[in-house]
Amino acid sequence: MCGIVGYVGKRPVEDVLLPGLSRLEYRGYDSAGLAIHEGDSLKVTKTAGRIEALTEQLDGQKSGGSVGIGHTRWATHGAPTTSNAHPHLDCTGDVVVVHNGIIENWAELKKGLEKRGHAFASETDTEVVAHLIEDMGDAPLDETLRRVMQMAEGALALVVIRRSDPDTIVAGRRGSPLVVGRGDGEMFVASDIPAFLEHTRDMIVVDDDRVVSITADGATITDIEGNEVPVVERTIEWDLDAAERGGFESFMLKEIHEQPEAIADTLRGRIDDSGAVKLHELELDDRLLRAIDKVFVIACGTSYHAAMMAKYAIERWTRIPVEIDIASEFRYRDPVVDPRTLVIGISQSGETLDTLAAVRYAAAQGATLIGVTNVVDSALARESDAVLYTRAGPEIGVAATKTFTTQLVAMQLLGLYLAQVRASMDPGAIEYHIRQLNDLPTAVSKVVATSDEIKRMTERWTEVRDFFFLGRSGDFPVAMEGALKLKEIAYVRAEGYAAGEMKHGPIALIEEGVVVIGVATDDHVKTKTLSNMAEMEARGGEIVILQEEGDNGSDFADHVISVPAGPDLICTVTAVVPLQLVAYHVATAKGLDVDKPRNLAKTVTVE
Ligand code: M6R
Repeated sequence: MCGIVGYVGKRPVEDVLLPGLSRLEYRGYDSAGLAIHEGDSLKVTKTAGRIEALTEQLDGQKSGGSVGIGHTRWATHGAPTTSNAHPHLDCTGDVVVVHNGIIENWAELKKGLEKRGHAFASETDTEVVAHLIEDMGDAPLDETLRRVMQMAEGALALVVIRRSDPDTIVAGRRGSPLVVGRGDGEMFVASDIPAFLEHTRDMIVVDDDRVVSITADGATITDIEGNEVPVVERTIEWDLDAAERGGFESFMLKEIHEQPEAIADTLRGRIDDSGAVKLHELELDDRLLRAIDKVFVIACGTSYHAAMMAKYAIERWTRIPVEIDIASEFRYRDPVVDPRTLVIGISQSGETLDTLAAVRYAAAQGATLIGVTNVVDSALARESDAVLYTRAGPEIGVAATKTFTTQLVAMQLLGLYLAQVRASMDPGAIEYHIRQLNDLPTAVSKVVATSDEIKRMTERWTEVRDFFFLGRSGDFPVAMEGALKLKEIAYVRAEGYAAGEMKHGPIALIEEGVVVIGVATDDHVKTKTLSNMAEMEARGGEIVILQEEGDNGSDFADHVISVPAGPDLICTVTAVVPLQLVAYHVATAKGLDVDKPRNLAKTVTVE
């Protein structure tokens, strides 16, 4: 996820682009840049760091230009350095591009361009677009962009300017957001409305596979074949605050709703046409992966729950023994680690000190380290032998939501990849699971759409003092995560527990007024979980069963939540979403600030 803004009009362009980018910082903030038409040239200013750093670099100087484009980045290809910051130029400095999305076939396109003599200045996928446009010569910019969009696979929101077209901005959209704003003798283009809302409330909708040419007087939209399509305008009703959250009440709710798109990004370009997993980015020798005889997965908090799921996935698919550890405990138990050990550190931020300390300890014993993180070039990414990025985009809410579901998906991809390399799983079974992963964005969208039902179910729970979340096997990490969400944002005691373990003690706590949520989607164990839940019902608990659509056996429950049916580990992703919504609705009903829960920090850099 990145933020794009473009402007053509009569104002000094910096006065529109810089505040516009600041309002898009929620989309990414690791580097930023501007490109402005200045006389006969294009002036590009960019830097690693936030918009503040870019503003400092410009030091109040105005170019005198009134056409330009800007970008705030959340890295997916290449570290967050100045050279990787957008905008990106072609070889001649005639074409400048900003991009939000992932170009899946960029490496292939780059190879072809290099053969034709193009020199690249960055490690990004985006730069290929500038060189492809250069390669197409003097054809009109909108036509070349359409051709580029036909060649590039993946998600794109592209905004381009060219030295020889000083009055025009051309933009294209496929799979990544892009909106156009119409002012009085000025026009705007951006990833999201807040970028221009202080200037205009008149918005033009840009659909997928459209190219839009913008001058100060208006916009022309064509489809990918070049046929003109009608321009549809809307009036924006939101105020600025609401617009920044995409109209949602909080970033957490917005991020819950972003999960289908985030999961699609995690999968993008990592599955080939034959249905095999390709994780070229790991760059680990297959011989090394075949020689591994033990795996440790190490993490904290929500990421630890992804580690719990990863244990099931890797053990089931590769038959390598997997141990999981809470990072702050790992070093103190003198674990047996050697050069045949694979250590996987999972950390959204890639900066959690407990996790870093643990993986450093393992690496010092000779283990191979794979980092799974959402932040490109984070400490975990830099220190690992190989990295798998979750590509969830920035998460502003302190409670992890989309970064968790993307971790689950990334760990399943990694598990399947190990199975593929070690030939421990039938290729047909791998392909089957991959098809299910590909269906997840749609399945998760369906679950997110049940938010109002969950709200109604939780309405009376503001006074409940005790919650239990129970599950077995793949449902166990989901239950743990459901409990953690409720604790951290609703400040209520919530225990995540293995359903079968309740009878060994905690069942003594079940009485009237206690809410017990049983996650029963894992086909191997769901009937056992239902029996455990019946025991909770017999002790007076208010019973919620989270099951797959079409399941029965939950007649004794007070409430039933259904998620689309799927293989066990696939259901970990869909089943956690209603629990995120439970926590969200209980917390908001109590009037709490879900984005900034008390006592918590998004990234914990102390031991
Ligand atoms: O950045 P990390 O994934 O390493 O963070 C680990 C935990 O601090 C984090 O998951 C925490 O538990 C979240 N607040 C959960 O919502």
